[in-house]
Amino acid sequence: MKGKNIVLGVAGGVAIHKSLDLVSQLVKRDANVHVVMTKNATKMIQPLQFQVISRKPVLVDLFHLSENWKPYHIDLSDQADLLAVVPATANIIGKMANGIADDALSTIAISVNCPTLVAPAMNGHMYQHPAMRANMKRLKRQLEPQGLKVVEPASGMLACGYEGVGRLNELEVILSAIEDILMKKHSTGSNNLAGKKVLVTAGPTREYLDPVRFITNRSSGKMGYAIAEVAHQRGAEVILISGPVSIEAPTGISPIFIQTTNELYQAVMSKVDSVDVIIMAAAVADYQAKSVADQKIKKSPTTNELTLLLQPTIDIAADLGQKKKKEQILITFAAETENLTENAKRKLKSKNCDLVVANDITDPEAGFDIETNVVTLIDKEDSYQLPVMSKKKVAENIFDFIKPKLQSIEITE
Ligand SMILES: Cc1cc2nc3c(=O)[nH]c(=O)nc-3n(C[C@H](O)[C@H](O)[C@H](O)COP(=O)(O)O)c2cc1C
Repeated sequence: MKGKNIVLGVAGGVAIHKSLDLVSQLVKRDANVHVVMTKNATKMIQPLQFQVISRKPVLVDLFHLSENWKPYHIDLSDQADLLAVVPATANIIGKMANGIADDALSTIAISVNCPTLVAPAMNGHMYQHPAMRANMKRLKRQLEPQGLKVVEPASGMLACGYEGVGRLNELEVILSAIEDILMKKHSTGSNNLAGKKVLVTAGPTREYLDPVRFITNRSSGKMGYAIAEVAHQRGAEVILISGPVSIEAPTGISPIFIQTTNELYQAVMSKVDSVDVIIMAAAVADYQAKSVADQKIKKSPTTNELTLLLQPTIDIAADLGQKKKKEQILITFAAETENLTENAKRKLKSKNCDLVVANDITDPEAGFDIETNVVTLIDKEDSYQLPVMSKKKVAENIFDFIKPKLQSIEITE
């Protein structure tokens, strides 16, 4: 979010305190947050609070004299990468849906030329009211073509004492939606991977010690399978090379199954020439047995110890980095337990990758065998930390991130 201009519209809803937390989270992510409050919102929280946390002036009065000849609200609208209205009251939604511009926020809402995010929060009866339903419908119809995201309210105990739908959604969900919109803006053009060939590796490898025992890891394959699924949905021809996993293959994809790192290497190398994108999401063993016993290793009756001699496996990513064609995109994963960014940057350079997807596997919401992940996308120019999200959403973000690079690739027939 570094350097992104987010205009945060704050209306007079009881969930207003959460938008203070939102400002703080956005500032932490290096966004420029310009808060615009409605007059009613200022009756609930003083603008000064938002000013201190956002480190920027807060706009309330449309007619205040700015230093610039250009009206401040137009200046803000012109600079905005995103207008986020959090919390969005029934009133501001009604105004936005009907083009009413009678204060700073509602005027900015029809002046911006950027995507808009709306996070409604209100009493359940208000939210279900036919006028509110009609306004939401109208807003969606009008703004969706320009990129409207509605973060629907959640259900639960409301501040007004009622239980039901209307509670402002979790901050993490709002942050994730903001990240999504800004990532889409970061890239250009359509989502389409039609005509592209994508090779994905997934799951663990097995390094055999004897015919029945092996060294492996906790990878479930869920991340790689989610990437293959998203690539397929976006129209790519997908080659999925998978270690042993117990999950279903995505619809329309028949994985090539391998077990050992050597088999993975052979399979990747036999396909790599024809692909545009290579995504190494498999958790590949770093070491293998120096020699694999032909027969099952027996328990020794004389000694309590067994020494295993291991040797490094072939470094598939490094080999790909050396051999890849200039126009091919190589993406690797870095599962780290410490020094995430430094290790990922080293990997980016040493393996000549175009993007490293780094995850701290000590985070309970990241890593092996769970549905979510917390990753940082690191390329030569930038690093982009994503909040906790589903593995499918991570996959969407990866393809959005590389979209500008992909567009310069000639389509392989
Ligand atoms: C204590 C209190 C809490 C309120 N909470 C909400 C709310 O959560 N959502 C909402 O739509 N309106 C809520 N309202 C009503 C709005 O403040 C009212 O409709 C106002 O006109 C909204 O103005 P604005 O959209 O310009 O901020 C609340 C009012 C009060 C007094």
